[in-house]
Amino acid sequence: MTETTARARLDQLWARGCAFLGTRTAVMGGAMSWVSERHLVAAISNAGGFGVLACGSMPPDALAAEIAATRALTDKPFGVNLINMHPELHRLIDVCREQAVGHVVIAGGLPSGATLTRIKDGGAKAMAFAPTLASGRRLARLGADALVIEGTEAGGHIGPVSTTVLAQEILPDLREVPVFVAGGIGRGEAILSYLELGAAGVQIGTRFVCSTECIAHPNFKKAFIRASARDAQASVQIDPRFPVIPVRALANAGSKAFLDRQRAVIAKVDAGELTRDEGLLEIEHFWAGALRRAVIDGDVEFGSLMAGQSVGLVTREQPVADILAELIAQAETALAVRHRVGAV
Ligand SMILES: Cc1cc2nc3c(=O)[nH]c(=O)nc-3n(C[C@H](O)[C@H](O)[C@H](O)COP(=O)(O)O)c2cc1C
Repeated sequence: MTETTARARLDQLWARGCAFLGTRTAVMGGAMSWVSERHLVAAISNAGGFGVLACGSMPPDALAAEIAATRALTDKPFGVNLINMHPELHRLIDVCREQAVGHVVIAGGLPSGATLTRIKDGGAKAMAFAPTLASGRRLARLGADALVIEGTEAGGHIGPVSTTVLAQEILPDLREVPVFVAGGIGRGEAILSYLELGAAGVQIGTRFVCSTECIAHPNFKKAFIRASARDAQASVQIDPRFPVIPVRALANAGSKAFLDRQRAVIAKVDAGELTRDEGLLEIEHFWAGALRRAVIDGDVEFGSLMAGQSVGLVTREQPVADILAELIAQAETALAVRHRVGAV
């Protein structure tokens, strides 16, 4: 198989994803709060992928400004990621409509049918995260135009099941809408294997953090380049009465301080000095603002270094276009080698 035919085969495999996104490659740059702002998003879209702006906790005016600023840097399609429990979710969806955003990705829990309808009524395609086959089917019935399945290897807030198992559970059976696979993807061969299982495309976060165009603080990038897979650990909950939403991040002094804080709060609740709800709130607030502290201010000791296990595959700073080209070349080589072996 020549390079051209390998690329043609790859294009065939992710044709559904490319058509859905309106791109040359079905690689989504997963939205990362504070990281996925105008520069990274535009760079990914300009390189033929699909950038997704992270709205995070932004108010509507800030989102409108960020969308406009991104559009000034790229004429290619990009999406907007909104968090389901944002108190101004409806207003943010309206901003996406006013700004003629083509794709809205709803994260942070299962969206209601009303939320999906509001997105679609505004003219955008609605994407959501499916944690199981049943919920994926339900979301498709409720109107989701495409789904993302994200395994526990991913950076940021995570579910309990690995990407490989989720992919095997969901991809062969859920054909109603395009499905994009996320979590732990750092090489082109992995992209190829998910496409062959039935994925329409993939979503990658960690691998793009050390791109030249990414505005993350040099300390944040250095921490990624130094880290190995095992440093990207899920947050630890020490008492089932005080649930902790699992987040995968590079272990640092902050992760240790989080355990100390949990212990101290629990001791206070047990001693009757705090109610359980007050304790829960105090634990929850520990990480407030911590991702910004790490990404923007460069506090890699006490900030939150959200990262996926694929951080071990991040070895240097590179332009986004080079990262994408490398992933595509790896997928193409895998296809070509397989064909040669088959021909022997
Ligand atoms: C620093 C960081 C911040 C993230 N923030 C968000 C977010 O705001 N919204 C979201 O849906 N996903 C968020 N994610 C998840 C990514 O969009 C993506 O799905 C994930 O990184 C894919 O796994 P990978 O890191 O193994 O490539 C974040 C991930 C990282 C590493």
